[in-house]
Amino acid sequence: MLNIVEEIIFNFSNNKSLYIGEELTMSEHMIQTAMLAEKNRCTNDLICSSLLHDYGHFVLEDPNQLMSNHIDGNHETIGANYLKEYFSNKIIEPILLHVDAKKYLARNKKYFDDLSEASKNSLKLQGGIMSDNEAKQFEKNKNYKNAIKLRRFDESAKKQNIKIKDIKDYKELLISKII
Ligand SMILES: [Fe+2]
Repeated sequence: MLNIVEEIIFNFSNNKSLYIGEELTMSEHMIQTAMLAEKNRCTNDLICSSLLHDYGHFVLEDPNQLMSNHIDGNHETIGANYLKEYFSNKIIEPILLHVDAKKYLARNKKYFDDLSEASKNSLKLQGGIMSDNEAKQFEKNKNYKNAIKLRRFDESAKKQNIKIKDIKDYKELLISKII
């Protein structure tokens, strides 16, 4: 069996599935998210969360299929559960909460209006905009601010034809964060 860092590198290099509703691959999207975290001088933990935030899609068999059947694949929970054996809670929690962060931010009308069509559709499947009460609960999570930061990087990480890093550039960082 491959160790987890080798497995991550393998999946990023070999999985060619497209990011839902966009023209770039899931791997490119996650690497761009990590690059934005680096550019914004985030901690190594948050860079790791950003890099791995959609890893649940690699664990799931076919996210496109799930979307077309109108089933929410719960990729954030699947990814977080899969990775928590290997990484600390500081890294895992923003991954787990990055969908809730969207539901939280969508309470703002401008934020909602600016979401892509695909993202608006998945918001519905994910339970829709948070109520005030849900928002209060969300703010009780220790790492909720990092989840919001991750969410903002996530949304900007959909560029095509820009020069991006290779997953192998993150190998040392990943190794250093294994618990
Ligand atoms: Fe994402």
